Amino acid sequence: MFEALLITQPESGYRCELTQLDEAQLPASGDVTVRVDCSTINYKDGLAITGKSPVVRSFPMVPGIDFAGSVTQSDHPKWKAGDRVLLNGFGVGETHWGGLSQMARVKGDWLVALPDTLSERDAMSLGTAGYTAMLCVQALQKHWADAGVAATGRPQEADYLKSLGAASVIDRNDLSAPGKPLQKERWIGVVDSVGSHTLANACASTRYGGAVAACGLAQGMDLPASVAPFILRGITLYGIDSVMAPMAQREAAWDALAKTINREQLASITTEIALPDAIAAGSQILAGQVRGRLVVKLKA
Ligand SMILES: NC(=O)c1ccc[n+]([C@@H]2O[C@H](COP(=O)([O-])OP(=O)(O)OC[C@H]3O[C@@H](n4cnc5c(N)ncnc54)[C@H](OP(=O)(O)O)[C@@H]3O)[C@@H](O)[C@H]2O)c1
Repeated sequence: MFEALLITQPESGYRCELTQLDEAQLPASGDVTVRVDCSTINYKDGLAITGKSPVVRSFPMVPGIDFAGSVTQSDHPKWKAGDRVLLNGFGVGETHWGGLSQMARVKGDWLVALPDTLSERDAMSLGTAGYTAMLCVQALQKHWADAGVAATGRPQEADYLKSLGAASVIDRNDLSAPGKPLQKERWIGVVDSVGSHTLANACASTRYGGAVAACGLAQGMDLPASVAPFILRGITLYGIDSVMAPMAQREAAWDALAKTINREQLASITTEIALPDAIAAGSQILAGQVRGRLVVKLKA
């Protein structure tokens, strides 16, 4: 038996609770069994745990869109017992049982070898957020010339963001209201996890020949923009999807993270929580109350 979060849809609504499962209950469609060491709480996990948005598409469901751990059994040619692996996306935690569980059974084709220099905890401190951020950086690399502006709705965190590398910090309200189609050129590259007017304004303020990588919708799904920045400034808008990204792109992103990440700094922004606390953390991340990264420790 092992512990997991389980989401069910009883007649009275939607429930996420800590439960005990048997290995025999793990999805038969997987060909690799993994002892999960760590998982994490992403915005999408918050949506799944609370049921605020219909990201879970079959019930019962174990949430958790990512995890790191060790293979215990494999019918897949690439993996054998003892291999250290990580997983991001592929519908895990949405349509296939996920990582907020001490054991998981998934398709071997979805797994990435955990880079030697990263611990399971490091990998989940980075999590899908860090991996997606690296996909954005790699998309922008041929445009990127300088680094530096971070936008936040929490101005009290400006020093914290500067300690992580932001040269300057702006109020996110500067970007979140409807703006002109073409604005003062402010940056050469943007990673946007917000969407809506913020993404439109980010494009309108990108310097000639620069680029924007769009990966999220924290403000909204809409994109109230014009073609002006594209046809008058030649900017590029990259769409970034971490969930179904091809394996070569995943491996390149994790390789770059393993080579570039400052592990001390990563540890300093990480808070470790236990599995039962993941339920409350799901609501907290949606309420914007989480700072840094939450790692859910699963290995007993
Ligand atoms: N494309 C992909 O494959 C992919 C992968 C991972 C995540 N995502 C998406 O990326 C987004 C962020 O995910 P996450 O896990 O990084 O969540 P997160 O840790 O909660 O970060 C979201 C941040 O966005 C800011 N924010 C929230 N509401 C906002 C608003 N109305 N306007 C402007 N900024 C706002 C907040 O920053 P401040 O408090 O500092 O202002 C918040 O901390 C989500 O939409 C998620 O679905 C997409």
